[in-house]
Parts: sequence; C-alpha cells; structure tokens
Amino acid sequence: MLRLGINIDHVATLRNVRNTVYPNLIEAALIAESNGADLITLHLREDRRHIRDEDVYLLRQVLKTEMNLEMALTEEMLEIALQVRPDYVCLVPEKREELTTEGGLDVVAHYQTINSAVDILQSHGIRVSLFIDADREQINAAIASRCYAIEIHTGSYADTHDPALQALELKKIAEHSARAAEGGLIVNAGHGLHYHNVLAIARIAQIHELNIGHAIIAQSIFYGLPQAVRDMKQLLRDARKC
Ligand code: PXP
Repeated sequence: MLRLGINIDHVATLRNVRNTVYPNLIEAALIAESNGADLITLHLREDRRHIRDEDVYLLRQVLKTEMNLEMALTEEMLEIALQVRPDYVCLVPEKREELTTEGGLDVVAHYQTINSAVDILQSHGIRVSLFIDADREQINAAIASRCYAIEIHTGSYADTHDPALQALELKKIAEHSARAAEGGLIVNAGHGLHYHNVLAIARIAQIHELNIGHAIIAQSIFYGLPQAVRDMKQLLRDARKC
C-alpha cells in the first residue's frame, strides 16, 4: 500500500497570519489521520514561519499515526529532534528567503555531517530520510550513509508546464526510485504533487510514501479537509490497482 503523509504546515501559516489559535493544528492532524493519512508531516523551520516548537511537542503527544519531522541539519534542530523523538526525521536543505524547500539536500557535498547526523538520530530510534533530487550521485551517497529512506524531490516533475519535460522527469524519478530501492532504501517522494499530477508518481512501484501539503490544504478550502484527504487517498489506492 502506498502511504500518504499529510503536511500540515499551511494550517499553521493560516493560524500565524492573524496570530489566532485557529485553525487548530492538532484538530487538523487528527482529522487528516481519521480520513486516511498514514502519517503527519511538519517542517520546523529555523525562522519558525509556520510550525512552532510547542506544536511539535504537542503533536507528538496526540498523533495516532506517525510523525515525520522535516528539519534542516543544525545543532538546534538535532537537539529538538532528540527531545521530541519523532518516528522519522526528514533532513531538508533550508534557505531563509525561499517560499518552500526549493531543492534537494546535497548529500555528496555534506556527506560527513549528514552521515554523523544519520548515525546519531538512528541510534536513538529515529528513522532518517534524506530529501534529495533524483540524481545518481546523491542516491549513492544516501545509500552509503545508511539512512532508512530517501524522499525524492518531485518539484521538477510537478512544476513544469512542458509535457515532454514532465515525461523526462517522471522517467528519471522512476529509474532512480528503482536504483535506490535496489540499494536497500525505502523510497518516498513529495513536493508539488496535486490531484492532477499524482497518479503517475503513485504508479511507480518502488515508492512507499508520498508527502503532500499545499494541494490538500488548498482543496480543503472548497471541500473540507476530510474530503480533501479522502480524495487524495483514493487516488493513491486507484494508482496501485492497475
Ligand atoms: N516533502 C518535503 C521534504 C517538503 O519540504 C515539502 C514542502 O514542505 C513537501 C514534501 C510537501 O510539498 P507540497 O506542499 O508542495 O505538497
């Protein structure tokens, strides 16, 4: 079964824009879980622009499924992760000025630091996933780091309006997913996926989990969060039927 991780960062963005207590993040996570989310994903950014420290601690206590904490590799974030003990940490690159995570982690360039973070986190029972581009060198470095999983950045596939380029990106993601799985990694994917582009990615047999935020929270404005989650989950089920 293809797992669905719901990224709830946008719920926190909406809350913070007026500094209110609503929409309540816990309620959003619990609704997502009871409508098909297999895990809840949240990104504690260094600038705390959406998720705040207290959200992470509170969610850890109430989630019924699993927590996937996205974070940059900094001393501060490592300390928080070791206190919170999420089920998964997804290491992502982070730039202050970006709207969202723009590219994959450079595991090759930062191999030693990433490798030691993987060791520390995994020795404390936290499975580590590395958010990387579909690239041979990055996948080889991820395999060497002995991380539990990779999350393939699907932004280049999702963001292009050129069908030929999209087909090329899809092929690349499929080939690299197969390589990573052969190398013993769990393969996840995410970024920019929505109701009209998710099927092709979801059909890649080696992909174990998709993490989706923007499209689902946007859809929930019109149809409600329960329906938005159920509809995405149904697409994932449909993709694996054929
Ligand atoms: N996976 C990772 C590692 C991300 O950083 C993000 C964006 O926060 C997502 C998945 C979800 O992307 P989107 O909001 O475009 O669905």
